[in-house]
Amino acid sequence: MGKSYSLADLAELAGVAREAVSAWDTEGRLGEAPRDEVGRRVYGFEQAERAVALGGRSVRRRISVVNQKGGVGKTTSVFSLSAAFAERGRRVLVVDLDAQANLTSSFGYDPDTLDKTSEDLLTDEKVRPEDVILETAIEGVHLVPADIRLCRVDVKIHEMFMRELILQNKLRHLFQHYHVILFDCPPNLSKVTINALLASDEVLVPVETQSYSIKALSDLTNTFSLIRQKMNHALRVWILPTKVDRTSALANEFLGALERAFGERLLPSVSIDPEIVKAPMFYEPVTRAFPSSRAAREYARLARFLLLPDAERDQQARSADRLKPLD
Ligand SMILES: Nc1ncnc2c1ncn2[C@@H]1O[C@H](COP(=O)(O)OP(=O)(O)OP(=O)(O)O)[C@@H](O)[C@H]1O
Ligand SMILES: [Mg+2]
Repeated sequence: MGKSYSLADLAELAGVAREAVSAWDTEGRLGEAPRDEVGRRVYGFEQAERAVALGGRSVRRRISVVNQKGGVGKTTSVFSLSAAFAERGRRVLVVDLDAQANLTSSFGYDPDTLDKTSEDLLTDEKVRPEDVILETAIEGVHLVPADIRLCRVDVKIHEMFMRELILQNKLRHLFQHYHVILFDCPPNLSKVTINALLASDEVLVPVETQSYSIKALSDLTNTFSLIRQKMNHALRVWILPTKVDRTSALANEFLGALERAFGERLLPSVSIDPEIVKAPMFYEPVTRAFPSSRAAREYARLARFLLLPDAERDQQARSADRLKPLD
């Protein structure tokens, strides 16, 4: 089921005044919106998407979600952010690259019954993304699913020509179609992860604040520097603390250390929230199942931030109160 929007919501998404959206609507530029039982127009994803396009402030983002440590919130972040981006009127493609296929299952697909997955995309030259992309229950979000065969992909692609650039080359013609492409990476730095990084311009690193060392994180960001040097491919790096328990002294101490080490690249945290664990039972991310929960509001804020035009985003990343917890 799709989300519905008010004129004020559409104005906020487009970054214009309400009157401007109202005028677009009168001119028929928002397309045909259905009416409710009392004859009022009900604005849905199509109107949100059109308002964003008419506002002219939309940017394209391609983001890999990476950490070689397992269980830090990569899949949860991709799942929640995809819905949050779509709610902002964006067409989103999520690519599951993990053999565990948790993202694929989160969207309600059984990885064992799929005809084609990202494994085929990576290993079979003839397979195009159009052969693999699935629609999801979330309007605006499309999925390239995964399956267990991905665990052997590194061996299979080893001999292939330009093996690090398979995803970039296969997906390039879709870069303009989707506003956001998100890659859910496996918990390792395999060639599959390198493929995702080279198809992205940004990388989001979720980190748990209970048991992680700054040293391990620096090693990871050094890998991104290597990609810049050796492959001539610059990546903007963001660090996202997840499962944060603000009552824990250790967590607060670690957040302080992250801020000193990463400065503007540190994003506002996502709290530990029991609703996150419950949401997938409904095959929905927390932003859908429990939109007023803390984690949902934090992911919505993050989606909003990531979609800002570069100059505005840089400015906000420098502002003093950006890391303040939500109320
Ligand atoms: N903010 C949160 N609050 C509470 N639980 C969370 C939160 N974020 C993630 N989790 C839970 O933590 C577990 C691991 O999350 P997730 O699967 O997203 O991690 P991952 O990094 O993708 O793991 P893997 O490396 O195995 O792919 C899941 O059970 C998820 O529900
Ligand atoms: Mg995962």
